[in-house]
Amino acid sequence: MQGPDILLLDEPTNHLDLETTRWLEEYLKGTDETVVLISHDRAFLENVCDHILHVEAHSGTAYLGGYTAFLEQRAHRQLEQQRAFVQQRKTIDKQEDYIRRHLAGQNSKQAKGRRKILSRLPRLTPPPGEEDSMALRLDVGERGGDQVAVAEKLRLAVGDRVLIENFFAIVQRGDVIGFIGPNGAGKSTLLRALVGDRATEGGEIRLGGSITPAYYRQDLTQVPANQSLYDVINDLRPMWGRGAIQGHLGRFGFSGDAVQRSAATLSGGERARVALAMIMLSRANLLLLDEPTNHLDVESIEALEDAVERYEGTVFLVSHDRALLRALANRVWILHDRHITDFDGSFAEWETVSAEREHAASVAAAEEQESRRVREKQKTRAGAKDGKKDTAPRRRSREEIATAESEVAKREARVAELTTMLADPELYNRGNGGKRAASLGAELEREKTQLERAFAAWERAIAAE
Ligand SMILES: Nc1ncnc2c1ncn2[C@@H]1O[C@H](COP(=O)(O)OP(=O)(O)OP(=O)(O)O)[C@@H](O)[C@H]1O
Ligand SMILES: [Mg+2]
Repeated sequence: MQGPDILLLDEPTNHLDLETTRWLEEYLKGTDETVVLISHDRAFLENVCDHILHVEAHSGTAYLGGYTAFLEQRAHRQLEQQRAFVQQRKTIDKQEDYIRRHLAGQNSKQAKGRRKILSRLPRLTPPPGEEDSMALRLDVGERGGDQVAVAEKLRLAVGDRVLIENFFAIVQRGDVIGFIGPNGAGKSTLLRALVGDRATEGGEIRLGGSITPAYYRQDLTQVPANQSLYDVINDLRPMWGRGAIQGHLGRFGFSGDAVQRSAATLSGGERARVALAMIMLSRANLLLLDEPTNHLDVESIEALEDAVERYEGTVFLVSHDRALLRALANRVWILHDRHITDFDGSFAEWETVSAEREHAASVAAAEEQESRRVREKQKTRAGAKDGKKDTAPRRRSREEIATAESEVAKREARVAELTTMLADPELYNRGNGGKRAASLGAELEREKTQLERAFAAWERAIAAE
């Protein structure tokens, strides 16, 4: 609204729902302003950026292109840097060897000369490693029952606003549920009800037998604010010695004096790492992760991704990080308008079928407009036609019009039918739902083309009348 010349955005997609993130993407792609944005949302970076500045090892490197282009160029650069470093190392070793052997002999002068040059040679450094990213590992203590969580006729509300109603579900061991939905819809509230943090307003949601949850809260309040990091870990592992505690914090990037810092002074990303350090010690068999990638840098997100991929328990993943959801979720819950659609497939599959659905909805809207136009034209024509005499050609063209009209009506009915079928979220829950949706989508495309032809034929018939 301010009409700035430059937009500075610091992690704008944290907490944002998918729809708003997509809106922001479109806005930023269309704007003429210069945009400088900090983000660790890989899908967002890929869609929006045309330059990347990567800060690493106390220095910034500029790359041209989006996120994928950056990854490729960086990998290439690292390889080159590594090669050059190894090559230089070899040269130096060889020269040092020469100098050692010849310093006292006949070629002493030469050896000294080389020593001088060698001492001035700028030394290359190896490419920065990944020592900054965290070493997260998620182990399951006890295996736990096969039924991890159950919801029956669940109803959640705040004040007189209903967030979720009449929800039934069974979560099986090993599920990785990507839980999505608009901001303020009630995702975090459902997780809180699941761990018994809040009551339900009807029905129930409960954990199965021998299920021990670890809860990564969206607001990170599980990290005690006024304790040192050292004490936080010490409280969780009273039997550990100093070395073990420092070692554990070291895995998450806190070394030396940093372990004495209090959580209140930490940056968003640092606090997120402490939360994960705490979860690692829980050995829980159910992870409730509420927007875990907010604040985390890409390396840490990838470390989290790897750890969850290897994890053998069950996971609820509330997230709007599309790259993460694509990598992990094998089941998707979509909270919309008080109902949760339980999609039995990966997030990528969900993206495909929901794009299909959106497409169907927009086609339906366009068709509706088109047929309204036709009906209006028909009305005008009916009015203008009065008083004209019937002749053979006129009768023929009227027949053509009638045929074209019935063709239009038939196609329209089929388009409407297909659109309704595609718009039904339940379609995607049946076995083969994805395939069926794709074939319905393809049929819709064909019908749409036919409908366009029918309209064209009708228009020709009208013109000839
Ligand atoms: N204690 C409370 N008092 C009043 N309203 C509340 C309270 N707790 C939650 N709400 C409201 O309930 C709704 C659901 O909140 P919730 O945190 O579950 O949303 P969410 O789906 O997790 O959203 P987001 O994507 O923004 O994290 C929100 O509109 C929120 O403002
Ligand atoms: Mg939330």
